[in-house]
Amino acid sequence: MSDLHYTLPQAAYTDPDVFAADLEHVFARHWTFAGHSCELGPGDWFRIALGRDQAIVVRDLDGTLRAHHDVCAHRGSRVTTAERGTAKAFVCPYHQWVYGLDGCLRSARLMGDQFTTAGVRLAPVAVRETAGLVFVCPAATPDEAPEFDGFADAAARHLGPHGLEQARIVARDHYRVAANWKTLVENNRECYHCRGSHPEFSLSNFEQGTHGDVRLNPRYDAALAEARARWAARGLATDEVSFPGGSWYRFTRLPLREGFTTETLDGGLVAPVMGTLPDPDVGSLRVVGLPNLWAHANADYAMTTRLTPVDTGTTDVEVCFLVDVDAQLDDGDVDALAAVWRATSEQDWALCEATYAGVASRGYRPGPLSPVVEASVASFLDWYELLSRRGSAA
Ligand code: FES
Ligand SMILES: [Fe+2]
Repeated sequence: MSDLHYTLPQAAYTDPDVFAADLEHVFARHWTFAGHSCELGPGDWFRIALGRDQAIVVRDLDGTLRAHHDVCAHRGSRVTTAERGTAKAFVCPYHQWVYGLDGCLRSARLMGDQFTTAGVRLAPVAVRETAGLVFVCPAATPDEAPEFDGFADAAARHLGPHGLEQARIVARDHYRVAANWKTLVENNRECYHCRGSHPEFSLSNFEQGTHGDVRLNPRYDAALAEARARWAARGLATDEVSFPGGSWYRFTRLPLREGFTTETLDGGLVAPVMGTLPDPDVGSLRVVGLPNLWAHANADYAMTTRLTPVDTGTTDVEVCFLVDVDAQLDDGDVDALAAVWRATSEQDWALCEATYAGVASRGYRPGPLSPVVEASVASFLDWYELLSRRGSAA
């Protein structure tokens, strides 16, 4: 009997009941990446839709980060009418109930003498931020939020020096991809396909470095050892945090190919060095937050990718490019900065759509994963199945 791991049965990708269970057990009951701290100055808010749930994430005027269900306490209307904004209060568009940024009802017209606003509020949602990344857990209230400290510690040590809290988003690309969300994560978890599909990415990146990739490449091993010695000497964390104990996150700083200081087409910086990084020689910090985040943080820019599942065969993707808040960039600079990841992302969506079309067809059977280069796909599926089992046992 082979001990190879296989992709999941077709229903895991195409059955609406499985999709509904995924939203519940993997997204709503787990920390899900929502956005960036730098989008949320005092009074700023954005919303994130996760299946039937929609959360408003907002920074109160005193700096407190909060999240609320986007559901009016009167008759249940959505309160927001835009994706994002800046507000002193939220006014429901239906009958104009007014909520403070803390979610508490401030006023409600024509409700009679018996009614009091005391204790009436938008239902609170668990929210956390660390190293400039914001997560929500829509099924939890702030008091019952799942454990976050392990992730927060790793993020602070590895991503903290990139200063994403003080960053600015210079490009925000939206895609609607015709594939199940797990197809996108599986694709992200291996670089088996990189050489054949990602010419721009492969200019600056070694194929090695994906969690569980056991290919030997003496040039990569030497570059990694030398880079880690340089980084450690300048105070950067160089340990590999790779889904510790089967958990949901990864932070690993990896070297870029010789001649490349950042992930641009020519390897040159486009923007100033970010945060408190000591100098541009920081390689590329790879970040994964299952189920819906991956990011690369370079010296001069960071790219974050956020998945939000729409239905079994549809996933919305938001790719953001962040630079130092004071960076002066024109449109040409932004295009140069985003060139590698725009090309790479769009190549990936095409791969995922072609894969999902096959997975959804009569001809699909679960296929074997390579133990040489796809162990991280297997780990993701193990993590997913554990959450799914826990959910169905609950
Ligand atoms: S539903 Fe919001 S004010 Fe009536
Ligand atoms: Fe890819």
